[in-house]
Amino acid sequence: MCFPLSLSHSDLSEQIKAVTKDSHVRAENTELMLAYQRGNVSLPQYKLLLCSLYEIYQALEEALDNNSNHPSVAPIYFPLELARLESVERDLEHFYGQDWREKIVVPAATKIYAHRLRQIGKDNPEYLVAHAYTRYLGDLSGGQVLGRITQKSLGLKGGEGLSFFSFPGVSSPNLFKQLYRSRMNSIELEEEERKGMLQEAVRAFELNIQVFDDLQKMVSVTERESELMHTTTRNRCTRHTS
Ligand code: HEM
Repeated sequence: MCFPLSLSHSDLSEQIKAVTKDSHVRAENTELMLAYQRGNVSLPQYKLLLCSLYEIYQALEEALDNNSNHPSVAPIYFPLELARLESVERDLEHFYGQDWREKIVVPAATKIYAHRLRQIGKDNPEYLVAHAYTRYLGDLSGGQVLGRITQKSLGLKGGEGLSFFSFPGVSSPNLFKQLYRSRMNSIELEEEERKGMLQEAVRAFELNIQVFDDLQKMVSVTERESELMHTTTRNRCTRHTS
């Protein structure tokens, strides 16, 4: 394994981190991520998040697999270490049962995200680097904390329903992130391609923010409905007993 001694400002990994800095703050401040940071994610929130992650990783990993020999994709193609689709499937089965495929709900913003991934898989495979960076390095960074919060908030035992957060093929997330960054920096890009990729990274964050917002709206509607049902039932019971 070979790591660069220092990163210059022209390194893709530094540039991508710099251009997405504000987007990262915005992503952290979505209602869903704030719930996480307060340490109280709910089961409906987590279940819906898994549904979205399923769609996203299905599209992302299919596009990466189809383009694994592309000169921009090959250096950052790490299916054994990073692939998430099977782990999300295991988690969905844990929460929804064996027929989870018939039960999962996909918010509209997630469909838009998955559509974008499929589109660039066909038209601009080099942009997949921006999407893989956004999801996988996020999963290996703040994502690790989110796993522990999910486990605590939902009282999950023995890692059940938490496969998504676990990377058995990555012994040190920090070392792996260094390797990943050095691989990103080895990608040769024309100036226009580099600009396009940086824009795509901002877009990738934006798509994630939309997914979280959409998901939160669905959770809020469901909570209001169940609150309403609760109130109606309580009123009926009160009338019966009075
Ligand atoms: C990196 C926290 C949400 C994408 C990081 C790092 C932390 C962090 C501590 C490590 C920074 C470093 O190693 O220098 C959080 C917290 C979040 C959150 C607390 C929400 C509660 C997100 C989301 C995304 C994301 C929603 C994208 C969908 C990333 C990426 C990196 C990262 C791509 C790697 C940055 C780089 O080294 O280039 N995050 N994050 N994060 N996060 Fe997040």
